[in-house]
Parts: sequence; C-alpha cells; structure tokens
Amino acid sequence: MKQQINKIEISAAAEIAAAADTQSLEAVRIKYLGKKGALTAILRGMGSLTPEERPVIGAYANTVRGKIEEEISARSESLKSASLASALENEKLDVTMPARKKPLGRLHPITQVENRMKEIFVGLGFDIVEGPEIESAYNNFDALNAPADHPSRDRSDTFYITDDILLRTQTSPVQIRAMQGKQPPIRIISPGRVYRCDEVDATHSPMFHQLEGLVIDKNITLGDLKGLLELWAKAMFGEDTKTRFRPHNFPFTEPSAEVDVSCFVCGGKGCRLCKGEGWIELLGAGLVHPNVLAGCGIDPQIYSGLAFGIGIERVVMRKYNIDDMRHLFENDIRFLGQF
Ligand code: PHE
Repeated sequence: MKQQINKIEISAAAEIAAAADTQSLEAVRIKYLGKKGALTAILRGMGSLTPEERPVIGAYANTVRGKIEEEISARSESLKSASLASALENEKLDVTMPARKKPLGRLHPITQVENRMKEIFVGLGFDIVEGPEIESAYNNFDALNAPADHPSRDRSDTFYITDDILLRTQTSPVQIRAMQGKQPPIRIISPGRVYRCDEVDATHSPMFHQLEGLVIDKNITLGDLKGLLELWAKAMFGEDTKTRFRPHNFPFTEPSAEVDVSCFVCGGKGCRLCKGEGWIELLGAGLVHPNVLAGCGIDPQIYSGLAFGIGIERVVMRKYNIDDMRHLFENDIRFLGQF
C-alpha cells in the first residue's frame, strides 16, 4: 500500500506540473483528492490493514495529501499570474498612438456673416424679429407702398402661390409686421431668406438672404441712417471703411438710397474686386415713407423712421473675395471648409 501511495505522489506531481490551465488542474485535483479520487480510495481501504500498519500508512497518506494540495495551490497561483500577464499584454494600450481625427463641422459662411451682423446690431440696442417666408401680397407690396403696376409685382419676378400669397421677395414685409398694432419706439432687425424668379448665375440666385433693419421714433433723420450704416460698415469691414449714399428709388422709402462701401481690398483706389470703381454696392436704405407709417397706424406727423435691407450674400462675397455666388449654394465641402 505504501508503494501505491508513492506512485500516486509521483504521478500527481507530474500531472500538476503539466496542467496547462486552471480547468485541467482542477481535473487533476478531482482525480486524486476528489470523493472518488485515488488517494481517497486508499484512505477508505485502511480498514483492511493491521492495527500496527494503520497509523504508519495513515500518516504517510496524509503527508502525501498535504503535498499534493500544496503543489496544486502553487500551480494554481502561477497559472493565474501567467494568465493575468497575458491579458495585460493583449490589452496593452499605446497612449502615444495618434488619435483618430473626427471631422468637425462648421457654420456656413452666410450664417457666420449673419451672426456677426446680428451681434453688431444687438450691440446697438436692436431686437431680432423673424417673419415668414410665405407672405401675403399685401405685406410684401401694398403695405410697402408698391402700386399694383410696380414691376417687382410681375409674375415674371415673383413666385406667387395664389394671387394673394407669395414667397416674399424682400425682408421688408417684416417692417409692416413690426409696426402693425405697435407704437414707437421700434428698433428691429430681421434676417432671413427671400425669393425672386431669377436664373442662377454668378451674381443671382432664386433664393438669397437679406437683413432688414427698421427704426421708428421721433426725429429720426437721414443723419441717423448714415451714422448707423457707417458704424455697421466699420464694425463689419474695418475702421478704414467709408460709405457712400447714391440716390435711388424704393416705393416704401423717401428719400431712398443705395449704399456702397469703399472696397476693402484696394481701399478705394480701384481693383479687380470692385471692378475699378473703388466702391461696392451692398444695400438699399431710406427714410420710411409717410404712407407706410400711416398704413400701419403710426402718425407720420409725430414719428419718422429709417429702414435698410442688406444683401447678406453680397457681404459674404465682398468679405471673402468670392467671385461666384453659386459656390455658396453648391455645398462643396472643399469650398465651405475654408471659412
Ligand atoms: N427691400 C429692398 C430690396 O430688397 C431693400 C430696402 C430695404 C430698401 C429697406 C430700403 C429700405 O431691394
């Protein structure tokens, strides 16, 4: 029996050393020390031994049992640390590796310029109001003093939805909305899209953006209009910018003007951008016509007002020296990514 125990000791030691993982190590433990294990069977069979042999064999068997348990737990430790080491190796993170770049979007140049303009006018005490792009012919034309035979009302110039409803051709109807049912002082800007039946080319698009401005109060004069727009132009294009008012005609302002700014590329000397003029046309403006005030329930004997409408695409093109408006609407990321 002693020999049997000795054999068990040797083969168990060999199998423990050969166990490649914790599962096979557990199988070895069950094989020798489990309820039906080889060493357990020996201890159970001790009843057949003589009383002299029993304590000797029993002590030996227990020593071997203890040895096998120790070997198993030592092997188990080394298997665990080996598997931890390999897990660490596999999951190794190289913090010096360059990060994968995520392309960031950005605001469209039209939105950027619109935001800058809002900032400037809000800083001057203006409120921002919005009007609908689908507008009544009354607000877009009649209330703005445009007579029935005004050329801009023609079907070849305006997108009509019905005879009375249309896509607004200008942001000026927001003036009417701002004045109706309200008494001065009024100081608003209104940016947004406008629509005209124009063929697409380098300087035209059937949809473009304007920023309308309106101030109604007592004693508003042409001087206020000039000062305000000069301030805006300097904030927008730089301190050296000059403005020029040229007489013009709009049905809803009297007097009316088209306003140019000095070319910010050549400073007024004349260059390719301004086509040798030294000036760049950006907006229409004027003093609000008394008929418009009266039509909105504001007494033109007491109040006067100024209004202006800035073409936002114009400002963007002049600011960034873009020679073709189509670039702004083609959504080519190679172009838009530059701003
Ligand atoms: N609404 C005019 C246009 O679209 C511009 C304008 C606005 C002119 C306000 C005068 C006052 O051409």
